[in-house]
Amino acid sequence: MKLIYYFWGHNYEYECRNALRIFDLNIDCEIKTAEETATEIEETYDIGDDILRLISTLSEEDGDEVGRASLYCNDKLLFESEYKGNEIILECENNKKLRKTVVVKAIHQVLKRYYNVTPDYGILTGVRVVKIMITARRHHKTDEEITRILRETYEVTDEKIKFLWDILKIEEYYINEEQNNNNYNLYIGIPFCPSKCIYCSFTSFVGCREDIINDYLESLVYETEQTIKMAIEKGLNLNTIYVGGGTPSILSEKQINIIFAPIKKYYDLSEIKEITFEAGRPDTLTEEKLLCLKENSVNRISINPQTMNEKTLLAMERNHTAADIMLKYEMAKKIGFDCINMDIILGLPGEDESDVKRTISQVAALRPENITVHALAYKKKSELTRESEKLYKDYDLIGKMNDVVHRWCTEAGYNPYYMYRQKNIKGNSENAGFTLPGREGIYNIVITEELESILACGLGASSKIKISSDRHIPVHNFKSLEEYKGRMNEILDKKKELLK
Ligand SMILES: C[S@@+](CC[C@H](N)C(=O)[O-])C[C@H]1O[C@@H](n2cnc3c(N)ncnc32)[C@H](O)[C@@H]1O
Ligand code: SF4
Repeated sequence: MKLIYYFWGHNYEYECRNALRIFDLNIDCEIKTAEETATEIEETYDIGDDILRLISTLSEEDGDEVGRASLYCNDKLLFESEYKGNEIILECENNKKLRKTVVVKAIHQVLKRYYNVTPDYGILTGVRVVKIMITARRHHKTDEEITRILRETYEVTDEKIKFLWDILKIEEYYINEEQNNNNYNLYIGIPFCPSKCIYCSFTSFVGCREDIINDYLESLVYETEQTIKMAIEKGLNLNTIYVGGGTPSILSEKQINIIFAPIKKYYDLSEIKEITFEAGRPDTLTEEKLLCLKENSVNRISINPQTMNEKTLLAMERNHTAADIMLKYEMAKKIGFDCINMDIILGLPGEDESDVKRTISQVAALRPENITVHALAYKKKSELTRESEKLYKDYDLIGKMNDVVHRWCTEAGYNPYYMYRQKNIKGNSENAGFTLPGREGIYNIVITEELESILACGLGASSKIKISSDRHIPVHNFKSLEEYKGRMNEILDKKKELLK
C-alpha cells in the first residue's frame, strides 16, 4: 500500500509523515512538492486500488489560515475536511504553529475516517504531552482553556485528558521556577547488558570483557568529576542522581564503588534526595551487590519483569524467569530498599490482555512503590523491528491492555505521575509511571517535563542544560567506546560553554 501526498501552499513533510504514522507503520509514503502537484493534480488516471492520494492545501483566506485535505483512491474522493485558523486555540501564540496545526488537523480528519480509528492522543505525535499544559499555564491560560486546547485543538480523548490532569496534580509539587533553575540532576550511563532483549535499541554492549568495562569506567569517572566541578562552579545544587543504562547492575561491587567515588568526593551521598540505580535484570543481582548499593546510599532501584509470562521472557531473550523477579524483589526488600520500581511492557509479541492481567496482578501483589507501564515501541535498530514483516499498531489490543493495567493500578492505590510518548508506539499509546502516594521518582518528572538541567555522563548519554526558564540545550555524548574516550574533551568543552 502506498500514499502519495500532494502539497499545495506548504511543505510540512515531517509533520505530514508523522500524521500518517499515527495510523499506519507499513504504508509507503511519497511526497509531491508544490511544483509537482501543480502539474499532476489535475490529471485523472487509474493508479490502482492500493494507492491513496492525499491532497493537502494551506491557503490564506480573509486574513485567516485554512487547511484542507482530500483523500482519493483512484479518482474516487473518499473523504475531505477543512480547518480554519480562527477555530483553533493554542497553548502559546505562534503563527507558524497555527499553520501547521490546520494542515495536520485536516489530514488527521480524513485519515481517521479512512482507518476508522480514534487515537487517544488525537493529532499529537510529540514526546511530552503534560508539558503542553505546563506551557499553557505559563502563558496564563486557565484550566478550562487548557482542557479545551487538549480536546478541541489536539483531539485528545476525555479519558486521557483526565489522566493528564491527574499527572499534573502530582507534578505541580515539583514545579518551582527558582528551585528548578538552581538544581541539576546527574545521570550516569552504564552501556552494558547481560543479553540483548529483542525489542530494545538502547546503546548497550553484550559480553564485554572485564578490561574493556574497567577502561570505560576510568573515562566515566573522569567525565563525572569534571562535570560535577562545572556544576559546583556554576553554583548549582545536586537534586537527584540516576544511574541508568543498559544494565548498571551488571557491574561488580568493586566497580559500583568506583562509579560513586567521584561523586562522594564532593557530596555526602546520604543527603541526596534521590539516588536511583537501574537493577532491571534480576539475573545480575546478588545480596552482596544490593548491600553495596545500600552502602552507597542508593534509595531507589528498579527490578523489571517486563512480563511475568515465561514464554514471552524466553522469546524476548531476557534470560530470566518470573520466579527470579519474585526472589530478587524479596531480597531487595529484606535488605531495606523501600522504593522499588518495576517496568512492564504492553504489546509484547504473542501476548493478549490475559497475559497482561497476569503480569500486573503479580506485580501489584508485590506492592512496589512505582510501576512503569510502557507500550511497545518499534525501535528502528531492534531485532524485533528488523525481523517483523508487518508492524502492527494493535489499537484495540493496546486499548484493552491499558484498561486492565489502569484499573489494577487504580484499585491497588497507585496514581499516574509522569508520562511520555515515543515514535512508532503501539496503539499510539504512552509510557506512564504509576506511584503509591508520595513515592514518585523525582528524576523521572524533572527530565520528562524538562524542568531542570540534566548533566549526563557516559557513552551515548544526553545532557540537557537549561539556559533560561523555558530553554535548554542538549549535549549528546559519543556512542562508540573509542570516540567516547578519545573525544571526551570535546563534550566537556560543550558542557562548560553552556554552563558558563
Ligand atoms: C533503558 S531500559 C533499561 C532497563 C533494564 N536494562 C532492563 O532491561 O530491565 C528501560 C525500560 O525501557 C523499556 N523499553 C525498552 N525498549 C522498549 C521498547 N522497544 N518499547 C517499550 N519499552 C521499552 C523497558 O521496560 C525497560 O525496562
Ligand atoms: S531492555 Fe534492558 S537488558 Fe534488555 S537490552 Fe535493553 S537495556 Fe539491556
